[in-house]
Parts: sequence; structure tokens; C-alpha cells
Amino acid sequence: MHIPTLIERKRDGGELSAQEISGIITRFTEGEMPEYQMSALAMAIFFRGMTGEETIALTTAMLHSGSVLEWSNDSPMRVDKHSTGGIGDKTSLVLAPLLACDGLWVPMISGRGLGITGGTLDKLESIPGFRVQLDEDKIRKVISKVGCVMVGQTSGICPADKKLYALRDVTGTVPSIPLITASIMSKKLAEGLNRLILDVKFGSGAFMKTREQADLLARSMVTVGRALGVRASVRLSEMNEPTGMSAGNALEVAECVRCLQGEGPADLEDIVLDLAVAVSVSSREQLQEWLRDGSAWRKFQQMVTLQGGDVDALDRLTQIHRAPYIGELRAEASGIVEKMDAGVVGQVVLELGGGRAKANDSIDCAVGCDHIAKVGTEVNAGDELLRVHARSRAALETALVQIRKAVAIKG
Ligand code: URA
Repeated sequence: MHIPTLIERKRDGGELSAQEISGIITRFTEGEMPEYQMSALAMAIFFRGMTGEETIALTTAMLHSGSVLEWSNDSPMRVDKHSTGGIGDKTSLVLAPLLACDGLWVPMISGRGLGITGGTLDKLESIPGFRVQLDEDKIRKVISKVGCVMVGQTSGICPADKKLYALRDVTGTVPSIPLITASIMSKKLAEGLNRLILDVKFGSGAFMKTREQADLLARSMVTVGRALGVRASVRLSEMNEPTGMSAGNALEVAECVRCLQGEGPADLEDIVLDLAVAVSVSSREQLQEWLRDGSAWRKFQQMVTLQGGDVDALDRLTQIHRAPYIGELRAEASGIVEKMDAGVVGQVVLELGGGRAKANDSIDCAVGCDHIAKVGTEVNAGDELLRVHARSRAALETALVQIRKAVAIKG
């Protein structure tokens, strides 16, 4: 196999065979294909795209670059969700324990936040002691006891994606539908799932800015899922205002705790129920009842305990991670909140220190926004529109100026 010839073929709009793609991924994972060649190929794929068959072959090769979680035939059905990310998108923390109430197994492997969108692992780490890095034995133990586990990618799972994603991140080749499809689906398929719901978002606070782009990505992921034996379905939704009423790591976990205790907020609960219904065997009413009667909350507490977290801290997270400066943004006029731009809120939370610009940056769990008014709320001049939690007075003042651009009120 002559790699430069394959790069040239893709550059010129030709197709690669499944065998050639498999050879490329094997050589790249084992360090035999240099990063400069892989970067060139990723750029050729970015411009030329891939056929459905090529995308399936790439996903398969990346999936088999490492280990796949195997489950015995008599184990419960495995289900999971993947979200393409958004501001205040915290649904995983409520969804996983809720699905476990249904007797399903949820081996949820999540990622960290990058750019303006937050990551489940960062949120979970605001729970004191919670461990997101578990080996496969421990993953099996937690799931067999509780029905759900929430962890980061182990070093054995999809090593090709780890390497390729790091390269794409610095070579301008992230926003390519076949590359995103293979990256996401290889990791999800490595969980050994039966069903998967894809929460694909578009809008100012999402990775995909238009419905058309989101739709193309969704179709591509569903096609690959079906070809590889997973029943994948899609929930396509706009991400123009944050999900729920908070954005920022500990603030979001605190909101999930309230949701698991049956206290909403309504939009978060609705999204969770939409996603749950798509993969579960129970009705929406039954799933809602498990949120209201404390069943999902008890599952979450059990999971936190088994993953080393301090359950007693869950009701006190915003005190444990209290940012020293908290300020309010107040309405300048009376009317209806017409806009609460998710992209602006996400950027402010990132700049407060709640997100990272580079993969190795550390994050501040305490900072962010809460009490965020929902679009459609009626407000009087002087009412609170949201609160900003900041590490310094200067950061608070800058954030309050910036975040005003997120809001429009119609008189
Ligand atoms: N998330 C992933 O895991 N991979 C991508 O390529 C993009 C988003």
C-alpha cells in the first residue's frame, strides 16, 4: 500500500476501498503512517468528502483500532445518547439514571468540553471525589449494580480517534461530516450498544449553525449506525437559547440534581423525556414518574457513590464551588424576553474560565451563569435576567457588559 498514492486519489475526488481505509487506520494507530500524511489525507477528505461506503469503512476501522465492550447475551439491552453539544446541555446526567430505572444498561462514555460547549466529564468532576477514569472491569461492576456508568474514553477504546481528533483539532479539519461521523460513531459503537439516540443541535450555541448541516450529519450517523447493527434515531433541535437555566460546570450539576428531584426546569425535563422515550421500552408518563418519585435520583446517587463521589455534597455543590463575585444582569425595559443568545452566553462562560481553549487547559467549576431567563418570559424593568458567577470583580464586570449582547426584550 503506497500512502501518497491514496492521498492523491482522495485529493482528486476518487474513492478509497474498505481495505485501503482499514490499512491506513491500522498504520496510523501503530505509528507507521506519519502525522503529516494523515493531516494531508484529513484535508483531502475535508474538501472531497466521502461516500456512504467509505464513511462506514472508516468508522469500522476506527472502532476496531481498540477494544469494544462485550456483553453477555443475557445482559439487558444497552442504550445511550450522543449530543453534538450545546450551551447548558446537561441532559446526560439526568438521562443515564432515568434509563437505568427502566432496566436498561447505559454504558455512557463522554468527553470534555472544548470551545464554547461544555463536557459531561468536566461537569461530573465538580462532584468531590467523582472518578471518570475507570477501567473496563470497574465499568462492568458499576453498570451491573446500578444500570448506568458515566466515564471518559479508556486508553483501549478507539485509540485511532484519539490520535486523529488531536490532529484534526490543529489542522482545520474538524468540521467534516464523514470525519465527525466516524469519530462519534466509532466511540459510541465501542460501547456495544443496541440502541442510540442522537441529539443533534443547530443554531448559535451549537457546532452546526444551520438545520441543513445538522440534518446531513444526523443522516450520516444514522446510516452508519444502521450499517453496523445499532438502531440509531435522531432528535434534531435548535440551540439558540441555553438548555435549562444555568451554564457552567457545578451550576449545571446542581440544576441536574434539582431535575432528578422532580423540580424541572421544564425545558430540561422535556428534552430528557424526548431522548429517553426514543430508546426506552416504557412510556413517557412512566419515565416522568421515575423523575418525580425519586427513582432516578436514587440511581444517580448510587452511581455517584460507586464512582467514588461524595453523595452528601450533591445538595451543596453551589456552596462548595462558590465563586467569590456574583452579579445580576437586570432588564433595562419591561416586555417579553425575545432572545437569550446561547452562543454569547457560552462565550462568556468560556471567558470566565468555565471552558477551555486548548485540550489541556484547566477549568474553573464554580464560574458561569444561572437564573437565566427563558425566551418568552415577561419581565419588568429592573427584574433579574440572569446571574453571573465570576472569580474576580474585573471578570464579573467584563462578563456583565458582554452578556447584555445576548439579550433582547420586546416591549
Ligand atoms: N465530537 C467528537 O467526538 N468528534 C468530532 O469529530 C466532533 C465532535
